[in-house]
Amino acid sequence: MEAKKVKDSELVLSQLMQPEHANNLGNIHGGVLMKLMDDAGAMCATRHAREPAVTVAVDSLTFLEPVHIGDLVTFSARLTYVGRTSMETEVVVEAEEILTGRRRITNRAYIVYVALNGEGRPVEVPRLSLVSDEERERWQQGEMRQRERLGRKVQGT
Ligand SMILES: CC(C)(COP(=O)(O)OP(=O)(O)OC[C@H]1O[C@@H](n2cnc3c(N)ncnc32)[C@H](O)[C@@H]1OP(=O)(O)O)[C@@H](O)C(=O)NCCC(=O)NCCS
Repeated sequence: MEAKKVKDSELVLSQLMQPEHANNLGNIHGGVLMKLMDDAGAMCATRHAREPAVTVAVDSLTFLEPVHIGDLVTFSARLTYVGRTSMETEVVVEAEEILTGRRRITNRAYIVYVALNGEGRPVEVPRLSLVSDEERERWQQGEMRQRERLGRKVQGT
């Protein structure tokens, strides 16, 4: 299977935040943001594998600042680390206040997907071809996070 580059699958989803996305405080509901983050990561992983990809782990999900109704929000997803059948994505959320142009990063997460074949079993994905020092560094950090996740899985935590 031919290796693919990070740029072959990275993507940005954009969504205008509307009143129906808000919680009782008038900010955007965390669950809405989490769903869109998962959508962005899943599309990125699926693009790499060209097979359906399911979420197997979410970690380091942070809520740094609230998002407001009327913000234009982008969900940027890129691959950081690829195993045999699993793929770790980094998803970064940025909110833009349309009237002022003020932008801020509001969320970040590492989400792992597994590609499945027609029988619903994990299937091998293309290798990731790294072309920059930043990509190699992200890979090393992703590999370390994946080792820690699998360690927690063995311990059942
Ligand atoms: C994804 C799933 C098929 C994996 O099943 P499994 O029996 O653990 O399969 P395997 O042991 O062969 O592992 C498959 C890959 O997942 C990785 N994996 C398994 N559990 C993991 C975890 N907790 N965290 C990170 N990676 C994990 C393995 O390391 C392996 O990766 P590799 O091939 O790159 O080394 C199964 O856990 C599942 O169906 N989960 C539910 C998925 C789902 O419904 N998601 C929500 C909706 S999309």
